[in-house]
Amino acid sequence: MLLSEIHKSTKEKFDAFNIQTSEIDSRAIIKKILDLSDKDFIIDVKISLSNKESEYLSKVVSQRLSGKPLSRIFGSKEFFSMKFDINEFVLDPRPESEILVEKALDLIQKNNLKSILELGVGSGCIIAAILNNSIGTKAVGIDISEQAIMTAKSNLIKNEIKNFDLVLGDWGSCLDMTFDIIVSNPPYIKSNDIKYLAKNVKDHDPLISLDGGNDGLDCYRVIANQSASLIKDKGYTLVEIGHDQAEGVEKIFENNNFLLTNKVKDYSKLDRVLIFVKKKIKK
Ligand SMILES: C[S@@+](CC[C@H](N)C(=O)[O-])C[C@H]1O[C@@H](n2cnc3c(N)ncnc32)[C@H](O)[C@@H]1O
Repeated sequence: MLLSEIHKSTKEKFDAFNIQTSEIDSRAIIKKILDLSDKDFIIDVKISLSNKESEYLSKVVSQRLSGKPLSRIFGSKEFFSMKFDINEFVLDPRPESEILVEKALDLIQKNNLKSILELGVGSGCIIAAILNNSIGTKAVGIDISEQAIMTAKSNLIKNEIKNFDLVLGDWGSCLDMTFDIIVSNPPYIKSNDIKYLAKNVKDHDPLISLDGGNDGLDCYRVIANQSASLIKDKGYTLVEIGHDQAEGVEKIFENNNFLLTNKVKDYSKLDRVLIFVKKKIKK
């Protein structure tokens, strides 16, 4: 069978179930199972699938058809050109969070920032991407989930990241130091809306990484309040937000002596990252 035929028949199975990412998914599955590169898809080679490969392909396709994301099937996800293991204890890293990383890196470079705090590290993708792409920086990452901390630690080590400290804690309450920059992608879904989330999210991402309380803003209240004492004067706090939360989150940070300096939109033109600077208190 030609590679293009395997790809076509796999894609058609996904199309029949209205899976929007049928092309990408089919290609990713075949690449993974047959250990092929993107280049291999340019030349249409003949492939003879072994029984084992055929069975594996059918199994993966049916798992995907049941709504399981590919990252959960294969247990890994690419983020900022790095590979991260994921499991039931951590959020599946989202492409939108790369915007948070890019903006943090801009600020780190322009202002020569050195010390970073991430609140809610999950798989460790954000802290790893920042440390991997900045020079002379060091970071502390916090999570309330012990399994998330273990996953993040293993991911940072596998990606050969140094200069980090991962701490089990309730946001920054356990810290007695200050940072140049704080980043966070906290849980921000309204508790009552979780049941309406897509199956691939509500059935697979841990509740603790999604649930932002009654109005979705609970974590921002704690983070803004703690940031006020965890950040140096003129330091920056960057938070990822839900598409309709900019106004609410801005008010919370303003009440904690922060000024909004930038509101960044994502690829769908929705508000995604807010950047705050801590106001210098006049003496
Ligand atoms: C939306 S996930 C983000 C994970 C990761 N930073 C990412 O972007 O993929 C939020 C993370 O915050 C953690 N978290 C929830 N409540 C927390 C708390 N009170 N203190 C510290 N971390 C918390 C969750 O365990 C989860 O890993």
